[in-house]
Amino acid sequence: MSKLPPVLQNLSLPVIASPLFIISNPKLVIEQCKAGVVGSMPALNARPAELLDEWLAEITETLAAYNKANPDKPAAPFAINQIVHKSNDRLEHDMQVCAKYKVPIIITSLGAREDVNQAVHAWGGIVLHDIINNKFAHKAIEKGADGLIAVAAGAGGHAGVKSPFALIQEIRQWFDGPVALSGSIASGDAVLAAQAMGADFGYIGSAFIATHEARASDAYKQAIVDGNSDDIVYSNLFTGVHGNYLAPSIRAAGMDPDNLPESDPSKMNFGGDAKKAWKDIWGCGQGIGAINAVTSTAELVDKLRGEYQAARARLKL
Ligand SMILES: Cc1cc2nc3c(=O)[nH]c(=O)nc-3n(C[C@H](O)[C@H](O)[C@H](O)COP(=O)(O)O)c2cc1C
Repeated sequence: MSKLPPVLQNLSLPVIASPLFIISNPKLVIEQCKAGVVGSMPALNARPAELLDEWLAEITETLAAYNKANPDKPAAPFAINQIVHKSNDRLEHDMQVCAKYKVPIIITSLGAREDVNQAVHAWGGIVLHDIINNKFAHKAIEKGADGLIAVAAGAGGHAGVKSPFALIQEIRQWFDGPVALSGSIASGDAVLAAQAMGADFGYIGSAFIATHEARASDAYKQAIVDGNSDDIVYSNLFTGVHGNYLAPSIRAAGMDPDNLPESDPSKMNFGGDAKKAWKDIWGCGQGIGAINAVTSTAELVDKLRGEYQAARARLKL
């Protein structure tokens, strides 16, 4: 465990809800924060770009009102995800809107940039950068990120291939700042395991897709309830970067999930085509065997909290 910046201290459950392309929206983020975990969404989910201002106003005003009414049980802070990749032509605009609202946490993915980190620090925010190996972790911290999201094997969306044990252990040999572990975490027991390994937080994505507030089709949510790790396929076909997807959605799109061709990484794209691909092909991590029903976000976080406390009691912690 590490020294945490004030914004990450005192979470009632050590969990960061990860940003989900297309799926996360202000309603989901607000419910995550009210339930006591860091809520997040990609800036790119607000389309057109002008909508981001409205969404950030909604999140900041709702959480401020909630905190005023609940001074003993304030909401957790929220995070906005920026895709720092050359195909994201909205980055400058979206950073200006985040500056206007002094977003407390920025999560950067697919590229680490010093100027982005400096801009966030200038308004008093912190940057967590997601990485899939120790080399990228070094780069991210050298460029000024405050903390790391270690994306291990089995994560939904763009996943790594490293065992979480290897990844966290290598990072903790040199880095004592905030680290969240990502990949297949969908139970409170797994959150405690992430902490036992040396991470500060569990970083949870796919489990939140099966909530009422998530902007996903009923069929997608049900596939998460019905599915387990056998249903997850690792491929780079859909965005040019390797990621994990639900096999039933690949079959429904007329492809054989067991015989997918390789993609050309130069085709990596986060514009309109990416939105189309992610709508039909459902990103998902391997941990969904723990999800047995579509519930409210509050109920999911309550369940995680109960499991976390039970696991601590079982281990006499
Ligand atoms: C459908 C889907 C969309 C995602 N979109 C993003 C995104 O836009 N930005 C990002 O940084 N990570 C994204 N992720 C990855 C998550 O941030 C996180 O690493 C992952 O969900 C954690 O693994 P888990 O799903 O097994 O909990 C996405 C994941 C999924 C499943």
